[in-house]
Amino acid sequence: MNSNITSRIIGTGKYKAPGVLTNHDLEKMVDTNDQWIRERTGIIERRIAPSDILTSDMATVALKEALEMAGKSPNDLDMIICGTVTPDVPLPATAAFVQKKIGASNMCPSFDISAACAGFIFGLSIADNFIKTGKAKTVAVIGVEMLTRFMNFEDRNTCVLFGDGAGATVLTADTTGKGILSTHTYTDGSLTGLLEIPGGGSKYPPSAQTIANKLHYITMEGRETFKVAVKNLSEAAETALSFNGYTSDDVGVVAAHQANMRILTSVSNRVKIPMEKFAITIDRYGNTSSASIPISLDEAVRGGRVNDDDLILMIALGGGISWGSALVKW
Ligand code: UT7
Repeated sequence: MNSNITSRIIGTGKYKAPGVLTNHDLEKMVDTNDQWIRERTGIIERRIAPSDILTSDMATVALKEALEMAGKSPNDLDMIICGTVTPDVPLPATAAFVQKKIGASNMCPSFDISAACAGFIFGLSIADNFIKTGKAKTVAVIGVEMLTRFMNFEDRNTCVLFGDGAGATVLTADTTGKGILSTHTYTDGSLTGLLEIPGGGSKYPPSAQTIANKLHYITMEGRETFKVAVKNLSEAAETALSFNGYTSDDVGVVAAHQANMRILTSVSNRVKIPMEKFAITIDRYGNTSSASIPISLDEAVRGGRVNDDDLILMIALGGGISWGSALVKW
């Protein structure tokens, strides 16, 4: 193992779904209002993919953009990792469809990560370890979710929150000291009930009864998840910085999971990183789960917010409860 190897992000891309669902649209569907949604979440509108588009289609668009920025072709990929809990089908992996749709014919291992909103960070961590150990040179890490197809549009607790989208990155082995400095990943399996899609698996295989009971929709204990998110994300941010000998002053950009603007401001206050450094997309995309970090990163990169040598802090938390961080030198 060459200890000088780091995994450098050389390309980013995204899929921005064309459909727009505003808070005012939702007012006509459930007992909610624009003011509540804005003040409690920071969301103004969220994106919805057309019905003939699949999760793998969104991922493919995002990955194409990332490959183009990276100057790499599909067959340069040694691995495709897809963070998603809203796959095309339960079997096979969405990443396998992406491999075919992107035109990679090199049989590179392609698989999904089920870590909900932390899926992109978990994917980065896996990619980083394969690259650092020399088992792979160039890896695609994607976060993609089609959450609007798993949402109960009669449940105001959840249907105002989520949106569709994809973000992708291409990582490659580097020896200049830039790239992923660390990843830290965690799961607290005692909190599985906070955020779940209960039906459709071995516990409640799909049946007329599970559909009637709405078990195929996402459910969340929002208030409890909120508390866990603020605590765990703040601690994860502090651990990432101290592990690498940095302080909050050193951070250039925070690409955090976009679940709730109030979570982000609480983390900002606790960790003492001003909100101006946070790449914010929740207002326009809603919560896109594993896609939110790579979408925010892509907007920051293409918007000229990320400079050479900038320190980028990524933090995410979601169902599992799984959470983690990645600290990247750009
Ligand atoms: O991405 C994965 C991780 N997810 C998260 O980190 C999300 C964490 N949780 C949250 O973001 C927030 O808890 C929510 C946005 C989900 C909810 O906000 P909240 O301030 O925690 O609201 P709440 O659940 O405590 O509900 C407060 C009130 C309730 O009414 P009562 O009981 O006080 O009369 C709810 O029924 O707000 C009501 N409410 C709504 N009102 C209007 C809940 N949803 C809505 C709504 N519109 N959409």
